[in-house]
Amino acid sequence: MPNHPLLKAWRQLGVSYRIGAEEMGVPRSVLHGFLHGQKKLGQRSNPEPVIRAYLESKKPSLEVISEPLAKKLFGLGLTVKDAVMGMAHLNIGKGDLYRYLAQGKWPNQQTVDAFRKWLEQQKQRRKKKMITKVMLSEEILEHFGLKTNPFPHELKSVEDIVPLKDLALAEKKILSTINHGGFCGITGCTGSGKTVLLKKIEHELSARKDIVLIKPRTVEKQYLGASGLCDAILEDLHWPWSKGHRLEMRARYVGQALEHNYRNGKKVILIIDEAHLLTDDALLALKRFYEFELGFRKLLAIVLVGQEKLAERLQNVNLVEIAQRIDLFGIKAMNGQFARFLKEKLARAGMNGREIFDSAAMKAIYEKMSKAGGFYTPQSLQNLAAQAMVIAEDLGEKTVTAKIIQGIPEAF
Ligand SMILES: Nc1ncnc2c1ncn2[C@@H]1O[C@H](COP(=O)(O)OP(=O)(O)OP(=O)(O)O)[C@@H](O)[C@H]1O
Ligand SMILES: [Mg+2]
Repeated sequence: MPNHPLLKAWRQLGVSYRIGAEEMGVPRSVLHGFLHGQKKLGQRSNPEPVIRAYLESKKPSLEVISEPLAKKLFGLGLTVKDAVMGMAHLNIGKGDLYRYLAQGKWPNQQTVDAFRKWLEQQKQRRKKKMITKVMLSEEILEHFGLKTNPFPHELKSVEDIVPLKDLALAEKKILSTINHGGFCGITGCTGSGKTVLLKKIEHELSARKDIVLIKPRTVEKQYLGASGLCDAILEDLHWPWSKGHRLEMRARYVGQALEHNYRNGKKVILIIDEAHLLTDDALLALKRFYEFELGFRKLLAIVLVGQEKLAERLQNVNLVEIAQRIDLFGIKAMNGQFARFLKEKLARAGMNGREIFDSAAMKAIYEKMSKAGGFYTPQSLQNLAAQAMVIAEDLGEKTVTAKIIQGIPEAF
């Protein structure tokens, strides 16, 4: 005989057969036999109603969401299921833990202490790993009927980029700098989509024969000084040079290489992401390279992209001259565009028209964003949405409700 359909619900509950049987007053072998589709010899009564009632009584509830310890748990991007597995030695069922959390009534001090200790350990582990993104497991995707992860760490192609107003304005500014020469700076807080935008622009420029892109590859920009910049430019322009040459000499080569490209009808563009990390030395070298010109035509266009600190750094006394030349644009919060952003992301992941976030949940997201002073970025919105989906799945809910959203602490 096949397994009983209730077996799935039982497994989700996370209670062991031994404890469940004890609590229901049903022999363990009867409970096990029933769920696995075997009828016990000599068994007179049907245990189904008792098991159903037991499962019902243990059903997770939305009430749990606003309780302080539950908030802490969810705030770490964890679920009740994670806690049950993490504290397996205590043999607590998922339904029980839900009840303890929802009612704030714990069976004994030892259990609540163990839960707090486990939470603290998880917090320390998270801190070390700097986990800021919530991952959606296959199980969760299936729960919501999604084909792929709507919020992957890395976008797979430019088609995955959702158009946003400020990113479009920043793009316009960058393209104008590229086409007409100039020096522009794009700033925005972490997760606002700067790197995504640069990838899009690079993709578009790759088809243009008149453009030579220079992108210094030093990962740690704080170590990129004037010398590293010179080398990056000479290398990408395939200009002969050697490490033995003095900086002054290499800087002069940069001028020659730029002039050569200009005469060959090429526009040379230097794009630096995470430019807020550049040394002052590197920023001053940029100013010098920007001054290379032939007639009235600048030989190098410069695009700096970085966090908001970049604007402050440019105001620095030494760099005032750069600040006067640079055309700055700040990417602001996404404001009213969040609903469309979420919808498009979910649609791209294969959601077939069903609402995963109900309208009250969308309103709750908007309120959360407003309270945060409009600092929500695509990334923090995605984190919030993913976290809400994790909790909804944990509760067995097919739709994310306002209550779930409200229960998520500000951790962005
Ligand atoms: N327009 C967009 N369309 C789709 N996804 C986006 C968009 N903008 C941002 N994202 C998502 O947000 C994530 C963070 O974006 P991105 O890496 O570009 O931020 P950033 O501004 O470069 O941040 P940092 O300053 O930390 O480098 C991306 O991985 C992507 O998932
Ligand atoms: Mg970035």
